[in-house]
Amino acid sequence: MTAQLSKKGEAWSARFSEPVSDLVKRYTASVFFDKRMADADIQGSLAHAEMLSHQGIISADDYAAIQRGMAQIQSEIASGQFEWLLDLEDVHLNIEKRLTELVGDAGKRLHTGRSRNDQVATDIRLYLRSAIDDIAGLLRDLRLALLDLAEQHADTILPGFTHMQVAQPITFGHHMLAYVEMFNRDAERMADCRKRVNRLPLGAAALAGTTFPIDRERVARTLGFDDVCRNSLDAVSDRDFAIEFCAAAALVMTHISRMSEELVIWMSPRVGFIDIADRFCTGSSIMPQKKNPDVPELARGKTGRVNGHLIGLLTLMKGQPLAYNKDNQEDKEPLFDTVDTLTDTLRIFADMARGITVKPDAMRAAALQGYATATDLADYLVKKGLPFRDAHEAVAHAVRACEQRGCDLTDLSLDELRAFSGLIDADVFGVLTLEGSVAARNHIGGTAPAQVRAAIAHVRNLLG
Ligand code: ARG
Repeated sequence: MTAQLSKKGEAWSARFSEPVSDLVKRYTASVFFDKRMADADIQGSLAHAEMLSHQGIISADDYAAIQRGMAQIQSEIASGQFEWLLDLEDVHLNIEKRLTELVGDAGKRLHTGRSRNDQVATDIRLYLRSAIDDIAGLLRDLRLALLDLAEQHADTILPGFTHMQVAQPITFGHHMLAYVEMFNRDAERMADCRKRVNRLPLGAAALAGTTFPIDRERVARTLGFDDVCRNSLDAVSDRDFAIEFCAAAALVMTHISRMSEELVIWMSPRVGFIDIADRFCTGSSIMPQKKNPDVPELARGKTGRVNGHLIGLLTLMKGQPLAYNKDNQEDKEPLFDTVDTLTDTLRIFADMARGITVKPDAMRAAALQGYATATDLADYLVKKGLPFRDAHEAVAHAVRACEQRGCDLTDLSLDELRAFSGLIDADVFGVLTLEGSVAARNHIGGTAPAQVRAAIAHVRNLLG
């Protein structure tokens, strides 16, 4: 048996005088988490073998045998029959060992001109590229769901807040579009990160390249990589592409988390702006009346673990000298968990967005409290010639008087309003309404229903 393929119950190779203990075996093994890269591992091996055969490094017969063996292994894995052995440490050695069992010497020739170091770096990139493509689709679907919600409520008015205090009236469509913008940028970040993921490490071998006449560009083309990694030491050791992905994922989750926070507040009976379909909520084991927004709360919570994975990977990388170190085996669990958490969260959020019921009456009632149109009154005075700072002061007096009387600005008569500024005329009542306030913010990026509809069309166009 070759050194690479000896079981760890035995010594690694003739170089070793004793086997590793069971604890060391378990400690150093990665097969129970890296087996999820089996597909990528097989794809990478087939592309490598094809190139070896094309270059005359292995024979066409060996390549055919490898193809046959790999097809068999693929079906064994798919049907759950493949036996994963801790003794064989990782996904790479498990598959190679089985290949050799199936096709003999051809299997032993597969690893020519290759190391597990460039092999694993290739596998991670292939795995992550496909995860990014899934995530791009999910981000698109979430945005489509939010765009539908925005369209249905392009005219629905609610209070906009700053400091969690009523600020100005806005449309619910506009509020949803704020999140759409965040997810647009997230999708851009994912697409950008994919460019750097999509480069081929294979050919770097252990660290310095190989003495065989390989054709790296051929392998890159076969596997759909845009380029090859240009330095063998860097190719096997850096995981910055995975860190970059985790940073992009942490930002998506942060946006999801902010939205979750709002959904939770909006669903509180004290606010009552929305309801979330029962299938996304749970009850209480003790309080029969409860319906809790568990999904957004958990999404908010899971943001913490994704942020943690980012910091974990940065810390994993920071002290490593060139080139490959076993530390890098620790990149997988945080990366996989980030992919799983983000994927599930995006999928559930798109579904949940379609299960949100908006309650326009409660939103409107809230917008009518808190003098949300005070800025509109100030702007009105400015348009009549008053400097803005004086207008601000005049309206502050009016709000204070309303507060003392427990009424709204619209409850004041024209004469009462004129006590704060002689510039006020009967046309003031148009600007004090919620509809007048939102309709007036009619420019790109503004909250007017017409702008909301234009923005929706813009993003729909972007999404194709
Ligand atoms: N399981 C290893 C990892 O994930 C594969 C590479 C092993 N390389 C080595 N030189 N021990 O990093």
